[in-house]
Amino acid sequence: MAAQSIALWLLTTTMALQAGTSWAQLSTGFYSSSCPGLYSAVKPVVQSAIDSEKRVGASIVRLFFHDCFVQGCDASLLLDDTATFQGEKMATPNNGSVRGFEVIDAAKSAVENVCPGVVSCADILAIAARDSVVILGGPSWDVKVGRRDSTTASFSGANNNIPPPTSGLANLTSLFAAQGLSQKDMVALSATAYKKHACPANFLYIHGTLFEDQGKERHCLMTVIPILLAT
Ligand SMILES: *[C@@H]1O[C@H](CO)[C@@H](O)[C@H](O)[C@H]1NC(C)=O
Ligand SMILES: *[C@@H]1O[C@H](CO)[C@@H](O)[C@H](O)[C@H]1NC(C)=O
Repeated sequence: MAAQSIALWLLTTTMALQAGTSWAQLSTGFYSSSCPGLYSAVKPVVQSAIDSEKRVGASIVRLFFHDCFVQGCDASLLLDDTATFQGEKMATPNNGSVRGFEVIDAAKSAVENVCPGVVSCADILAIAARDSVVILGGPSWDVKVGRRDSTTASFSGANNNIPPPTSGLANLTSLFAAQGLSQKDMVALSATAYKKHACPANFLYIHGTLFEDQGKERHCLMTVIPILLAT
């Protein structure tokens, strides 16, 4: 299975996620006059984080994906619990496994330095996810921006919509389908989210019981990806 094909699916998948965002009109030029320094503020932060630890690039893609699965791509995952709602960070698919928040915080600070109060965290997360993929050697794409940050998060939404590590293939497939994503998208996103260390010959890692992903034991996908992609 060619890593390049996976990269192409990733591209369409992240575009599909963007299309699924419910906030009005997104466009690539949304901040072109209000924050022209946006992209050059975010990228060095992501680059430096990945230079320190490659895995965090995959973690940021996973943050974006787990954010988008609950209420759309609205940065709800970044919110801590408040008196009025329980946030998403401790929901089963996230508790103890979501990481990379400090990189998004640092990118937000860098953006605030160049244009305070303009750019949403949801957009910064979307840009940082793209930058991570590019820095790790994947494809590039233009990030459509103009998202608004949510003021609420949903613990139950995270539990119900994001596939937990124990999901089997049927549930994985239906949870991705609920977001308008195909099995190919699922493989691309899951594989990217778990591409921690190089497997021999670019084989990728994936999520889910099917793939025996239990903590440390992540198996290379030599057999599983071709089976899924053939369906
Ligand atoms: C999150 O994980 C911690 C550590 O395993 C556990 O103590 C806590 O109860 C979990 N929180 C929820 C809401 O499940
Ligand atoms: C799918 O989800 C349902 C409802 O949460 C659960 O009862 C069932 O065991 C799950 N099946 C698989 C294959 O994960």
